[in-house]
Amino acid sequence: MNLSIAEQRILDGESGEGLQKAMELVVALGKIYGAEDLVPISSAHLSGVSYKTIGDGGIVYLEHVSKGSKVSVPTTLNPSGMDSERWKEMGVDESFASKQLHIIELYKDMGVNATCSCTPYLGSNVPRKGDHVAWAESSALSFINSIIGACTNREGGPGALAAAIVGRTANYGLHIKENRAPTVIIEADIDGSLFQHSLLGHAAGSMIGNGIPYFRGICPDWDDAKTLAAAMAAAGAVAMFHVEGTTPEASEYEVKGLETIYIGEKEIRDAQESLTQVEDVDLIAFGCPHLSIKELKEMASFLEGKEKLSDIEIWFCTSREVRDSLPKEVAVLERFGKVLVDTCMVVSPLEGIANSSASNSAKACNYLPTLCSQKVRCDSFYKLMEVVL
Ligand code: F3S
Repeated sequence: MNLSIAEQRILDGESGEGLQKAMELVVALGKIYGAEDLVPISSAHLSGVSYKTIGDGGIVYLEHVSKGSKVSVPTTLNPSGMDSERWKEMGVDESFASKQLHIIELYKDMGVNATCSCTPYLGSNVPRKGDHVAWAESSALSFINSIIGACTNREGGPGALAAAIVGRTANYGLHIKENRAPTVIIEADIDGSLFQHSLLGHAAGSMIGNGIPYFRGICPDWDDAKTLAAAMAAAGAVAMFHVEGTTPEASEYEVKGLETIYIGEKEIRDAQESLTQVEDVDLIAFGCPHLSIKELKEMASFLEGKEKLSDIEIWFCTSREVRDSLPKEVAVLERFGKVLVDTCMVVSPLEGIANSSASNSAKACNYLPTLCSQKVRCDSFYKLMEVVL
């Protein structure tokens, strides 16, 4: 691999052991993926935050890395296993909480902005078109590749952290223009709702694996796009998509001759059925990915003046920034459930809190059975609200 003199010096240990170890990881990943060189990055976003997902081994690793290293670019953090203030109300136990708070402190020690949200592109960390970045969190990286036109591969937690420390990542995959071309056309016929965009993502991801779809027949806004991105990344390994007439790079590639897949009413119904095992649930959770200002406002406006007639627990998961910007709407939602920040239903220790749960997110419903031992119902916000009104 071609390294600059400065990069080689870091690799040789001239800038200290912390930077050297991080550079070794970035270079090793580059060699595995056939990168010719490294590319400077303008930001990073890290996964590997919940104690549930990284465990004690992850803590030991972070304690080691954080001793001599700081991030060198703006870096944000994915959701943790709990709301840092309301974890007792969530039903999280003390031993989990103390380990979780320790993990967040370790990231802070390295200079990471502990936003604990999977939608940093809505406020705290917004790349520009053409920026090279190193982002983990499959939903967020797919969103910024596709909707913003920033360039990132599907980084893992340790790789993104190493890139944040050295300020560079390996130059391969989606950092290179020709690798961002569509590989398959998807003709979509859906009703345009947020929920059907989520199911479309599940159906598409299941069919195309790690391809790059070029959608026709949809016109997603940012909320539709974030749920579509999340579901596709979870059901397949889609890290980027184009939408005809909508996404910034859609017109830059030739799509003539690509295979075309049709996803319509039947495929959407099949996707919902495949994500649903039960009708009645203990808990309903929204906000995968974290709720935006617009979503939170729409939910509050729908629930304003209504009364909750059931004791089913409801979680509205969002970022701290969004929650703090909408006190009136949050007060409305709090009459129905908990507006939680820093966390989500999937990375929380939900398996100790509920046995069955529902969400309007295909990504959440895909992961909840395996990661949280849940029986799941996948349905729209409005249908799920009928259960409690
Ligand atoms: Fe975000 Fe958790 Fe879903 S990290 S995309 S809310 S699984």
